Amino acid sequence: GTVVLAYSGGLDTSCILAWLIEQGYNVITYMANIGQEEDFEAAKKKALTIGASKVVIDDVRAQFVKDFIWPAVSAGLIYESRYLLGTSLARPCISQGLVHVAQQEKAQLISHGATGKGNDQIRFELSCYALWPQVKVLAPWRIESFTKRFQGRQDLIQYAESHGIPVPVTPKKPWSMDANLMHISYESGVLEDPAKPAPDGIFHLTADPQHAPEKPCKLQINFEHGMPLSLKNLTEGGPVETDPLQMLTTLNQIGGRHGVGRTDIVENRFIGLKSRGVYETPGGTILHVAHTDLETFCLDREVLRLKTFLRDKMADYVYNGFWFSPECEFVRESIALSQRYVTGWVQVELYKGSVRVLARNSPTTLYNQNLVSMDQHGDFQPNDATGFINTHAIRLREFQRFKTQLEEG
Ligand code: ARG
Ligand code: SIN
Repeated sequence: GTVVLAYSGGLDTSCILAWLIEQGYNVITYMANIGQEEDFEAAKKKALTIGASKVVIDDVRAQFVKDFIWPAVSAGLIYESRYLLGTSLARPCISQGLVHVAQQEKAQLISHGATGKGNDQIRFELSCYALWPQVKVLAPWRIESFTKRFQGRQDLIQYAESHGIPVPVTPKKPWSMDANLMHISYESGVLEDPAKPAPDGIFHLTADPQHAPEKPCKLQINFEHGMPLSLKNLTEGGPVETDPLQMLTTLNQIGGRHGVGRTDIVENRFIGLKSRGVYETPGGTILHVAHTDLETFCLDREVLRLKTFLRDKMADYVYNGFWFSPECEFVRESIALSQRYVTGWVQVELYKGSVRVLARNSPTTLYNQNLVSMDQHGDFQPNDATGFINTHAIRLREFQRFKTQLEEG
């Protein structure tokens, strides 16, 4: 039969490609352009040399931003309070493309190179099954005849050499890397010891904050119904960006220059393992900080509390691979409803790794300067606060009386 393989051009998926052909499959490789630095032409040549019957290169960058990253920003998605989900968001987007090609090519099989201990296998497979219930998945890293043959990297290199697969000349970095428009993640290898800081020079997207410019940069970001709408560089001038892909690319460049968005965490994988991850998410971090500010400015307090609860649920769903699920659809739509009045601008300053909010404005905020002002009473009766405090104090006084009574026996 025909298999559509999610292909990266790297050593692992190249060996998987050759191995699948060896098993008698007709293999079509699928490469999504999600904004990673990649020589797609070289990867295409490589796949054809190895024996792919067809090579699909799919530029899904605009879709990735509009349908996955922007909704994540407007939902404020953040996993375990720190991870902005760059890889987790890319997987359902890539799966969409995989399924599309598989259906077009009348292939019933999809394959990927994600390992058996990770999150990505779950995300790819759940997404594919949700989008196309009849599809079958081949996960070589969970197939015994494959894992017996390939114990480690040496086996892959040996196999590649004997199968005419070009082996990368530069020695492999001692960590694994996953890049897209939202972030680059680094895991495994020398990063597996959480007590050791990430090596200098691991980062690609961001400057070391120490060496970032001495001069800060002011930006204004406009949002409409919670979605990023435009970007203005107040320090350097230049055109106002409105195209989502262009906006994120620019934010990544500026944020990167100022060293914004580095994080080093130990996170809980869905499968039950803890893993150490190092991330750089320059543009995503700026958007997250700005959106959080505008949202708190605009939303009713109780709506904000409910939305925060749904946000945390949605972050788990997305991390765990349930982007295409009834629960995720439900929270996505509920959150979109909460964003009705999240419209306006936020000004931020980038400086040596930090994003600091300077000001915000909105035509649809519940903020009422006259009501809150220290300079006038407005409609508020100061005496009302006395009763408010007294009423709340009832419970506290009772609790104190209760404790004293217990102590006195
Ligand atoms: N730990 C992150 C996540 O689960 C990043 C995974 C990186 N994936 C990779 N194939 N290198 O979303
Ligand atoms: C992998 O196992 O393929 C990468 C790590 C992950 O998926 O969590």
